[in-house]
Parts: sequence; C-alpha cells; structure tokens
Amino acid sequence: MKIIFHGHSCVQIEVGGKSLIIDPFISGNPAAVTKPEDIKTDAVLLTHSHMDHILDAAPIAISNNVPVVATVELAAYIGWKGAQTIGMNIGGTVDLGFAKATMIHAFHTSGITLDDQQQILYGGMPAGFIIEAEGKTVLHAGDTGLFSDMKMFGELYNIDLAILPMGGHFTMGPEHALIAAKWLNAKHVLPVHYNTFPPIRQDVASFVDALGKEGIAGTALEYGESLEL
Ligand code: NI
Ligand code: MN
Repeated sequence: MKIIFHGHSCVQIEVGGKSLIIDPFISGNPAAVTKPEDIKTDAVLLTHSHMDHILDAAPIAISNNVPVVATVELAAYIGWKGAQTIGMNIGGTVDLGFAKATMIHAFHTSGITLDDQQQILYGGMPAGFIIEAEGKTVLHAGDTGLFSDMKMFGELYNIDLAILPMGGHFTMGPEHALIAAKWLNAKHVLPVHYNTFPPIRQDVASFVDALGKEGIAGTALEYGESLEL
C-alpha cells in the first residue's frame, strides 16, 4: 500500500493498481505540486464539506468517471455538480472492491458558506475514514479536535497509519494530536493540515520527535512524496 501526500489533508492511497483520494484540495493550494487534471483515481472520499477538503472533488470524479463517497448531504451537493456519488453515513462501510471505507465521526463543523447569498448550507456531519485493504488499516481523522472516542477506535481497529491534523486553530494542534496518536494506538502517524495557511503554521519536525519519544513512528511528507505501508 502506498500513501501519497498531495498537501493539506489530501492523500491518495494506492492498492494493487487502484487508488482512492481523500479530500482533494489542490487547485486552491498555492504550494501544490500536482494538478487536479493529472490525478488518476478510482474513488474520491470526502470527510466534510469545507472548501479546503472538497474543492477539486467533482472535477476529479467527473474526469475519472468514478464516484464521490461522502455523507448523504455532502454527496447530494457534489451530485448537483454532475459527479456520481455514494452517499453514506457515520458507522457505515462502503466496499470499493480494492478497499473498504468505514465512516467514523469527527468533532468539527461542516457547513458550505455561500458568500454571494449570505447563507450557510448544512453539509452533513464531519467525519473521518477507516480504510482497510491488503490487511492494513489506515485512519484518516478528517478535521477534528481531540475526543475520547479515539480510544474506542484504537480498541476496535489495529491502526497501521493514522493521518492526523495537527495545525491547530481549525483542528487539534500538536499537543492534542500526540494524545490522539496514543489513544488510537497508532503504529505510525502522518501529520496533515498544517502550514497551508498562516494560522496553522506548526513545527512538524518537533511533532515527529515527540511521536518518536512515545514509540510511535512519525513521517512528515513533502507535497508529492509518499510512504509505503
Ligand atoms: Ni474543516
Ligand atoms: Mn480543513
């Protein structure tokens, strides 16, 4: 299994020639090293409806002729943009054939801000995913603060890799992300959702060091880099 970091919270998980991409925010990210039109994928998964997670979802799904997997509300919204969708909800599992995706809860918000209409659309609950393939388990926490049910996920799943936000301000910061890694009993952590915008600047090297002191492997990837599980 290969995990490719496309920046911010966007990762692509490759399994035996197939792949899924989570939270594609590429065209709006000035530091991106890839283009949405160059992404080849078999499914697009969305954790919640904020623009820094869904921006390129519909175009990527349409150009690859593949579905977007999201909560029923967010799936409806993305469907209105012309993409195929699989609406699901927290606790459910979708079998993509090459991987299973279980939707888990997250503590965050999930509205779609329509500035021109001065309205906020309800975008469904925020979520994360447990991805299971090739005997490996990857947790993508989405955007979230620390919450004690992470201990439950650590009991229920043998987490090989936890993809955790640690930028602070909009999500948990490094101190809480370190506790999350411990509660999830994760073997390995990929930090995400940092340095993209000024309020979420963090010293990721210190975070990786702190993980190491707890006996947890940590890998901070540059945009476009990948790790093998
Ligand atoms: Ni968010
Ligand atoms: Mn976000």
